[in-house]
Amino acid sequence: SLAAIGLLVAIITLDAFFHGINPPSKVETIDSARLHLSEEFAEDKLGVSVNEKGDVIVRMVAGRYSFFPKHIEVPAETKITFRWVSMDVLHGVHIPMTNMSTMIVPGYVAEITTTFPKPGDYPLLCNEYCGLGHNHMWSNIAVI
Ligand code: CUA
Repeated sequence: SLAAIGLLVAIITLDAFFHGINPPSKVETIDSARLHLSEEFAEDKLGVSVNEKGDVIVRMVAGRYSFFPKHIEVPAETKITFRWVSMDVLHGVHIPMTNMSTMIVPGYVAEITTTFPKPGDYPLLCNEYCGLGHNHMWSNIAVI
């Protein structure tokens, strides 16, 4: 059992230092009811943008029962940072073939960096039960 504990500590240490995986101690809060007034998540600020450092940032809002904006295009084999917020209740987002799988908790910004391995249409699925329309809450991302 000591060997098992040692192995777990080694895995946690490697993940923390080499993969940058840390406990969620840095949380970013946002007023879900006033997204339309926010500097980042107002309707005209959503979608794909490139910041001054050249990083691709995608800002999206989840709400019953869709992801907004409904259609985006992003490049393949490029590091893309997604920033998610919910306008109402708890949602989730999962994109198969990527590491994208997170809860979108109302009141908080969820940030995930991912890379799409190849061009194509990738489905975007809500994976947290959010109401009667949950199973219709999905969309597509065009990777070019
Ligand atoms: Cu949104 Cu389930």
